Amino acid sequence: MTTEIVRIDPSDFGKDELTAAASLIKRGGLVVFPTETVYGLGADATDPVAAMRIYEAKGRPSDNPLIIHIADPADAERYTYTSPAYYELARLFMPGPLTVIMRSRDTVPKQTRGGLDTVAVRCPSHPIARELIRLSGVAIAAPSANLSGSPSPTQPSHVIDDMLGRCDMIIDGGSCDFGLESTIVKINDDSTLTLLRPGKITVEDLEKCGFAVEVAAAVADKLADGEVALSPGMKYRHYAPASPVILLDASDESSIKYILSNGEANIAVIAYTESVAAYKVALPGAEIYDFGSREDRFEQAHKLFSILREADKMSFDVIYAPLPSKDGVGLALYNRMIRAAAHKIIKL
Ligand code: TXA
Ligand code: MG
Repeated sequence: MTTEIVRIDPSDFGKDELTAAASLIKRGGLVVFPTETVYGLGADATDPVAAMRIYEAKGRPSDNPLIIHIADPADAERYTYTSPAYYELARLFMPGPLTVIMRSRDTVPKQTRGGLDTVAVRCPSHPIARELIRLSGVAIAAPSANLSGSPSPTQPSHVIDDMLGRCDMIIDGGSCDFGLESTIVKINDDSTLTLLRPGKITVEDLEKCGFAVEVAAAVADKLADGEVALSPGMKYRHYAPASPVILLDASDESSIKYILSNGEANIAVIAYTESVAAYKVALPGAEIYDFGSREDRFEQAHKLFSILREADKMSFDVIYAPLPSKDGVGLALYNRMIRAAAHKIIKL
């Protein structure tokens, strides 16, 4: 399949620049587009054949449901049975990086929702995403635009690596702002939510707005044998680089001592900016990736998937990384990093 690549400036573009992309969506085509979290691989959410093409292009099991993207929070009425809690979440966090799971209407085919009777809805804030959905006139089903088993793409080069030849069009809108996927919540009743995936909208943000938030077990811990995942995506092996990753819960000093004592020849270290120089001195043969400033969770979120993709192009005996704290946006980093490390955490 030939893939057309179209470069569009998110801060300065005309509607006509998205006409071709919208008409591809209307005709059942696949279009990769930028969002404020990660790039999405989009198709008409109401077209079961188009939904199946998404699973095929990603190599994704078809029982792992897709998020449907809408241009206006009220458009959720067409696809789901909404509730006052939905409108409260919409008022506070939409458009933005929040996905809400609700009971689906028949307008969303089973293929799009992986056979479930619920559907995940998100109203992105990215100007290109919003205009594309508006011009297409339907909700756009879009998982992250990576091959199944790779980290979500946050840069045009990531999308080109994974999706060239697998979709009809790639809209290159530059780097994604946040860099980790949206927060996913399930509405239980008017005041309680279950957090299924942490993201930029934090537990604290939701609680501040009066919701009681239960964090699903799989968010921060390993599912026990036989435990059922609340989100189908949780049960699949999540992205982990080919080289083993070990998370160190320790000061730089003890981390360096530990790494030296292990004596691996070919290692990488993901280090906070403030620690990069110390690691370079102590481990002259190692590849040191700058993870961003220690206190700047947003910079780290923005860089994480790029670093993991970079590291995956090399072959290391081991990749060491710091264990993030679980508060605020830290929980989103923690959730992605314990998966990349297959839950290998060493406390020193
Ligand atoms: O930021 C994002 O959310 C990006 C951009 C493109 O919007 N999309 C994204 O989609 O991350 P995806 O498909 O890579 O991740 C969606 C997750 C999957 O783990 C899936 O299992 C879960 O959401 N999910 C979707 N529908 C669900 C449902 N009805 N119930 C429970 N989990 C659901
Ligand atoms: Mg994904």
